[in-house]
Parts: sequence; structure tokens; C-alpha cells
Amino acid sequence: MCGIVGYIGHKNVLPILLTGLKRLEYRGYDSAGIATITENQLAIEKQSGKLSILENSINSTNMNGSIGIGHTRWATHGAPTKSNAHPHTDCKSNIALIHNGIIENYATLRKALIEKGHKFVTETDTEVVPHLIEEFYDGDFELAFRQALSELSGAYGFAVLSSHDPDKIYVARQGSPLVIGLGEGEFFVASDVSAIVSHTRSVFYLNDGEMAILSRGGIKTKTITNEPTKKKIEKITFDLGRIEKSGYPHYMLKEIFEQPKTITDSFRGRLLQSEGRVRLGGLSEVEERLADAAKIYLIACGTSWHAALIAEYIIEEYCRIPVEVEYASEFRYRNPVVNKNDVIIVISQSGETADTLAALKEGKHKGALCLGIVNSVGSTIARETDAGVYIHAGPEIGVASTKAFTSQVTVLVQIMLLIARKKSMSVVMGQSIIEELIHVPDKIKTILAQSQIIEDIADKFKDKSNFLYLGRGVNFPVALEGALKLKEISYIHAEGYPAAEMKHGPIALIDEDMPVVFIATKDLIYDKVISNIEEVRARKGKVIAIACQGDEKISKLADHVIYIPETSQVLMPILSVIPLQLLAYYIAVKRGCDVDQPRNLAKSVTVE
Ligand code: AGP
Repeated sequence: MCGIVGYIGHKNVLPILLTGLKRLEYRGYDSAGIATITENQLAIEKQSGKLSILENSINSTNMNGSIGIGHTRWATHGAPTKSNAHPHTDCKSNIALIHNGIIENYATLRKALIEKGHKFVTETDTEVVPHLIEEFYDGDFELAFRQALSELSGAYGFAVLSSHDPDKIYVARQGSPLVIGLGEGEFFVASDVSAIVSHTRSVFYLNDGEMAILSRGGIKTKTITNEPTKKKIEKITFDLGRIEKSGYPHYMLKEIFEQPKTITDSFRGRLLQSEGRVRLGGLSEVEERLADAAKIYLIACGTSWHAALIAEYIIEEYCRIPVEVEYASEFRYRNPVVNKNDVIIVISQSGETADTLAALKEGKHKGALCLGIVNSVGSTIARETDAGVYIHAGPEIGVASTKAFTSQVTVLVQIMLLIARKKSMSVVMGQSIIEELIHVPDKIKTILAQSQIIEDIADKFKDKSNFLYLGRGVNFPVALEGALKLKEISYIHAEGYPAAEMKHGPIALIDEDMPVVFIATKDLIYDKVISNIEEVRARKGKVIAIACQGDEKISKLADHVIYIPETSQVLMPILSVIPLQLLAYYIAVKRGCDVDQPRNLAKSVTVE
């Protein structure tokens, strides 16, 4: 999604803006631009394509100054062209504005402004805003800004410069995150803290309906209806090193190999091993309501939805509470039956996914207790829920989610334990699951040590056009996740199915050109999976199996086997997904794909 960065202080603003935008590249973008003010004159430079193109064009100008804003755009309205890139201006180029979000009533506003003589030069929704401010401006820029905001509907994070008020940056948020950084006589604004963490660790987050005015003398915060607000300054703890690639060729590979640590971080300080239970501070006020839920809705998108599907199996198995897994985009529009004693749990790595946020708001409106499982601290979803659990996976930069997924599943297992131990699960059962969980990080390391074997397998299948992923029980969502990983970074068509479903249609696809990945770990339905493998082989299908160490039978049936350690059934998905992450990664790299920023995708889908 779009990235925003701004600075006001006494340093040269250009390197601060460009470095900040580079930290936001992972969000996905197709054009970029900046605006500065020097001697009360606005200067604007913008380009389509990658930041390097913008940087070159800036270097050919005499732009400078110590106040500025910068933007990376992921096109929603209007093609990814130079003219559609932000910042956008008013008719007289006294106002430069950058925006993250969608102005839903822009067409009406544009029509009315054109009738008043305003000239538009882009196809974007955003361009109406600087013209609206211009329309209202009558000597008081702040008033004009607030009046314009009051006319808008939709989602926005704005940063605005104006030669009418050259020593201030105006920012406002409604639905798209903005974080404010505080330095010594200098201040920052960004859509994501990673853009400014190298300058300051003291930050606060704007809430919906809130604005701020940044000047060299300090920051004023208020609602857009002009009510002053007080902000709590937070300290950012993660270090920049975790954001860099640490020597890996891609963020995605770094994040796959980080999983032993991130899984540990997702349960650190939360396991009461001797009592066979967990302590989740973020849920302490709502534990009883959660355990007494009549029904639990798990709502998410994409990979987070796959984590929800895994949780459905284990929560129903051990907590005996009905669970319904929903795509957020469907839940928000289908008028679901939600009762007051239901609990909704939304799952989101970014905490900014528009569909998930909307589903959350719908659940809150219907009176359910709404909880969140989120990675990004201080994100909108995290702050909209009644309570929640952070997964502590650290910044996930690769668009394809890996470490966040396994940490989501680990937190969901802990939530299952929290509930089950209040119900029928024994202390011994709780202790055994916790004991297994503590060993998962080391077991992941043994899987990662096979990366060369997996890379060799990837080499054999990198030119295939279709893949089928099959699994049963908790491994069915893992099959879906493996298929999603492959298709989103290698652009190979891949489908995940319950293994038993193959005979109801997909088996027609099987031939020697169709690789079939089976998750065939030892469980109560292992023999059924073996039968499915034999059905594929009878039709000359090529089989890649994920199996447990010591499984001799599978090596006689599969063309390739990746062995993983055994563990408790509820934890098996955390292990069985690792080889699928690596398989997708190596195939994508061998196909020359942009692994960290796959085409058409964004890290956080903050628009519908
Ligand atoms: C997963 O690899 C994708 N990047 C995508 O499906 C993602 O999981 C989905 O957009 C949900 O994002 P969230 O977890 O940040 O809400």
C-alpha cells in the first residue's frame, strides 16, 4: 500500500525522505514523489517506477530545504503514471498533499470543484483534497484543512505542505495509519514506524479523526473538529537490524530462517509449564468471557485465514466450542448472525487490512467481544479490538507471509490451551503440549538444515505450470498455505485441497506434468493419505511428500520426500509448512521472480 514519510527540523530533508521511502518499499508501490518548501516556495518531484528513478530526477534539480513530505503509491484510482503519483497540488500549486487510503466521495467533490473553476490534471481520488483546501482557504490554513477534512468520506492518512503556512506539516488520519516521531527540535511523520526508527524511537500514533500540526517548535494534536488531544509517547523496541536483510539475499529467506527465534518470541513469558497452562496478559480481562463463548468466529484474509482454519480444528477438538472461520471480505457484507456471547477473533499480520478492520467493526457493532491476533504493534486493528495478543514476530518485510503465519498458529495454540485448561483438558495434557511447543524452535532448525535438499527439488519442478497441494485434518490448511506461497511469488498456478477431495474432481488434472505435494505426517488418517498418494502415482503424477523422520513407507511411494521431526498434532502445521515456504521461495528465485515484492501484490491491503 502507499507509504508516507515527512520531516521538519534543521537537517537537509532530501536524504531523510528518500531513506524513509526506501524503508517503505516493501509495502509495494508503482510510483513515488516528494515535496519540499524552500524560501516559501513549494518544490515537487515525482516519477512512476522505482525509487531510484525518483532519486535520479531529484538529483538533477536544485531541490533542498529542511521541511518535506514523501510518498510511495500503490495505484487504486488511476494508472501508475508520473502525473498520478503523489504529491498532488491545488490549481496554484500552493498546496502539496500525499495520501494513503481511498476518498470514497471524490467523484461528487471533483464535479462540484470543477463547476467552481478548479482544473484537475490527474485521474486520482486524492487530487480533490488540495483543491478542496484551496476552495476553503481564506487566510487560515489550518481552518481550511479542517473544513476540507469534514467534507471527506473514506479512508485517509494525509501529510500536507503549503506555501501559505511554510513552516508547518499538517497531518490527519481516518482509517490509514500515521505515526509521529519526536526528535530534538525535529519531528517526523510516517505511515509505518520503520521509515523513521533510525532517527527516533519516541513516537505516538494518531487515532481516527485526529490531526496534528508539526512545526520546529513542537506538535499540536487535536481532533479534526478542533478538540485538543493528549498523546502517550511510546518507545519503539525493535532495532533496525531486524529490518535489514542480515546477509540473506531476500527478506523472505531471512524471515523463513528467523522462525526458530520468532516462534520462541511468540511464547516467551507466556508458558506456565508446571501447571500445563498459559498466561496471555492481553487477554487477562476477558479470559472468562472467551472460555464461556457460545461460538468463536475466526476472521482474516489470505495466509492469516489459513492460520484461522488450523485453529478451527484444534479449538473444536480441545475446547469443544463451535468455531466458524470467515473470510473478512465475506463476513463484513453477509449480515452474519452474531450474538452477544459470541467471541470474534480477527487475525492480521499488518493490523491494517481493510477487509479485516471492517469485519472487526461489524462484529463490534453486533455486540460480540472482539479480540485481535496482530503482529504490528499499535496498528489500527490492534487498537480497535477489545483485547488481543501480539505475536511478536518483528517486522515482516517480504510480501509473502512466513514467520507471521507460524507465530499466528503458535499464539492460536496458546489461546486454545488458555481455554481448554479452563474446561476439560488435564494438566498432564497441557504440560505435554507445552513441552512439545518448547522444542518446536529446535525442530524447525533441523528442517531449515535441509534447505539444500529442498532447493534441489525446486530445481526439478521450477518450470511446471501447475501444482496440487493435498493434506488432511490440520494439514489441509497447510496445503492451502503451501499453494498460496507458491502462486504468489512464483506465479505458478497452485491449488490446495483436502486430500480426500481429489477424487471429486482434481484427480482429472493428474498426469506426469502435474507435481502433487502431499503433507503426509503421521496421524490418525495417515493411511488414508497413503491411499491418495497411490491414486496419484497410478496416474503417473509426480509426488513430493512432507513426511515424518523414520517413515520408510513413504519413500517407496513418493518421488521426493522432505522429512520433518514428529511433534504433537496441534503443533504439526508449524513444522510441515516450513518445507513448503522454502520450496516456494527457491522455485520463485529460480524463475527470476521478485520474491520480496511480487507483481500486483502489496504487503498490507489497506483498500477494499
Ligand atoms: C500472504 O502471503 C499474503 N501476503 C496475504 O494473503 C496476506 O496474508 C493477507 O493480505 C492478510 O494480511 P494481514 O495478515 O496483514 O491482514
